[in-house]
Amino acid sequence: MRLRRLVPGPDTLTASEAMAGLGLGDLAPPERPYLVLNMVATLDGKVALGGRTAGIGGPADRELFHHLRTQADAVMAGAGTLRAERYGRIVRDPALREKRAREGLETDPIGCVVSASLDGLADLPLLALPEQRVAVLTGASGELPARGARVEYVRAGLAEGDGREVDLRVALGRLRAEWGVRSVLCEGGPTLNAGLLRAGLVDELFLSLAPKLAGGADALTIVAGEQLPEAPELELVWLLERHGELFLRLRLGGRERGGRDES
Ligand SMILES: NC(=O)c1ccc[n+]([C@@H]2O[C@H](COP(=O)([O-])OP(=O)(O)OC[C@H]3O[C@@H](n4cnc5c(N)ncnc54)[C@H](OP(=O)(O)O)[C@@H]3O)[C@@H](O)[C@H]2O)c1
Repeated sequence: MRLRRLVPGPDTLTASEAMAGLGLGDLAPPERPYLVLNMVATLDGKVALGGRTAGIGGPADRELFHHLRTQADAVMAGAGTLRAERYGRIVRDPALREKRAREGLETDPIGCVVSASLDGLADLPLLALPEQRVAVLTGASGELPARGARVEYVRAGLAEGDGREVDLRVALGRLRAEWGVRSVLCEGGPTLNAGLLRAGLVDELFLSLAPKLAGGADALTIVAGEQLPEAPELELVWLLERHGELFLRLRLGGRERGGRDES
């Protein structure tokens, strides 16, 4: 399957070629991992159909999604996404685990679970896999039942509130300092994305736009909750296309902040 590269310059490439050698860890600042978000949305910006992501993206999105998982030390998701999508082994295809090894990464990424409540996660398939290392980022004091995966806790509660919400900057700093994590791929969802953006912890956004419309005034978009205090600007790094589906790679804070450029 080949994708058309529209920006920069015309070319065609495979999903495997697009998601190779990104060197995300090399881009990390010293105090935390480099963090990229990956989301898929309809053209009206909705990220779930009937509560699930499945059905939005096409085959090229799925290929890019799996190949992007070969590029980061850790793959992170909020508990809402994990409960909805029932995460199992993060890199299931042995060929993609080999690709990770060729990229100088562990064959299986660390799975990072972000949860304040720890509710509804006990039977997550991810937690039953001996080959899977899992970091649970939480402010809660409880534990998930041991079911086979190597599960450890990064307890970093926010000082305000009931202390169960995670201070994401502190937690990511500890993943870097104590776990050696230099790159994180965050697969959402909208609530976690909002927290990461508010804390200024997002470096890039990989966004697939499926040529579909979902409607629904209350349907989730890629960022939940209140309006962000400043509308972060993003710089387009690449734009790929296949069968009308668009795949954008964007870098946060790429342009100087300030007045609107009318030129
Ligand atoms: N289209 C896409 O690309 C895409 C990607 C991901 C998800 N989705 C969809 O999005 C929906 C889920 O949305 P969502 O907003 O609920 O997802 P979410 O952000 O994955 O989950 C929200 C939950 O994550 C935990 N969480 C997030 N930030 C936290 C923090 N700073 N501290 C502690 N816990 C934190 C909390 O878990 P607890 O409730 O356990 O405390 C919170 O309730 C699903 O329908 C899913 O299919 C779509």
